[in-house]
Amino acid sequence: MRTLITNIGELTTNAGSGDLADAAVLIDHGRIEWVGPADDVPADPEGCEEVDARGRAVIPGFVDSHSHIVFGGDRSAEFEARMAGQKYAAGGIRSTVAATRAASDDELRAGTRRLLDEMLAQGTTTVEIKSGYGLDVETEKRLVRLAAEVTEEVTFLGAHVVPAEYADRGDEYVDLVIGEMLDACAPHAKWIDVFCETGAFTLPQSRRILEAGLARGLRPRVHASQLGPGDGVRLAVELGAASVDHGTYLTDADVAALAASDTVLTLLPGVEFSTRQPYPDARALIDGGVTVALACDTNPGSSFTSSMSFCIALAVRDMGMTTAEAVWAATAGGAQALRRDDIGVIAVGKRADLVLLDAPSRVHLAYRPGVPLIKHVWKDGVQVR
Ligand code: NIG
Ligand code: FE
Repeated sequence: MRTLITNIGELTTNAGSGDLADAAVLIDHGRIEWVGPADDVPADPEGCEEVDARGRAVIPGFVDSHSHIVFGGDRSAEFEARMAGQKYAAGGIRSTVAATRAASDDELRAGTRRLLDEMLAQGTTTVEIKSGYGLDVETEKRLVRLAAEVTEEVTFLGAHVVPAEYADRGDEYVDLVIGEMLDACAPHAKWIDVFCETGAFTLPQSRRILEAGLARGLRPRVHASQLGPGDGVRLAVELGAASVDHGTYLTDADVAALAASDTVLTLLPGVEFSTRQPYPDARALIDGGVTVALACDTNPGSSFTSSMSFCIALAVRDMGMTTAEAVWAATAGGAQALRRDDIGVIAVGKRADLVLLDAPSRVHLAYRPGVPLIKHVWKDGVQVR
């Protein structure tokens, strides 16, 4: 099954070829077979379905490297209270834990599927999914298993917060996480994550958790510096984490450590939007040598958007990124945060995950916030929208 997309007005490749005008892309069996000027399309793409982009822009499919989409319940009342002045706190996670434990597999599956469909319709072709709303062995195992049904990027986040039944016994809960819970979850996961933050897990607890995961073949990623400055960034860098996420309150030492590492900083502007916290200064971070990715952090508490376009608009409007940087961060940056080299770029041999925008350039993603600009989406070479 081959598809030729031609008359592309602006092609963002994230590859050596750079941005191309008047371009075409040939897709064959899920992979990119050829990329170049529309006038140079290899003769006779026999049996090829042709799509005329009519001068519109094409970008790689979004790679959303941070989500928590397997959960039960609803926290819209918490959002309303926040907009009326209440502060965001990590403790809200526990209300989703109660609703998630009470939900059946089929209910959780249906909720996850709905959000995934929503993401795909908005151009997201790869999604990382974390557990973390179970916080007991049985439920965490259900969550990683359900996530593994729909993505290969599954993260075990048993260390999201200390559940109510372990109040004041955080170290005992960590014993459970790195013991029986890790045994149950490791077979279904690729990554291990911890919320290293005041009110969640301390530096020594976070280190124990990530090291236990590493010993089981899981690779680390870390939630850090979301609610205030902390130690999570330096721990992530020390352990060679693929990504450290949030970074709302970074110190100069954090920035220097990130710049000298190959740990990606994944910024989540939907969280700042929804919690009214300050946006991180992505301009200064990029200028300081940090590799920045963008993700939605889709979850019922701190960021219930699934729109990478919206996050790009926030990053450009409020974090000082150019649209080119923001689109790179939402595609190739996300791929790097997942240590993937087969996605996030439009180049020969890579996965054919592409988005045709209903706009002449990617700048429109930020210039026209809230407007549905995703015209067509291809995932693994199949047009899914
Ligand atoms: O990424 N930081 C911790 N976890 C989520 C929030 C989860 C919640 O509030 O339910 C986050 O923001
Ligand atoms: Fe998160």
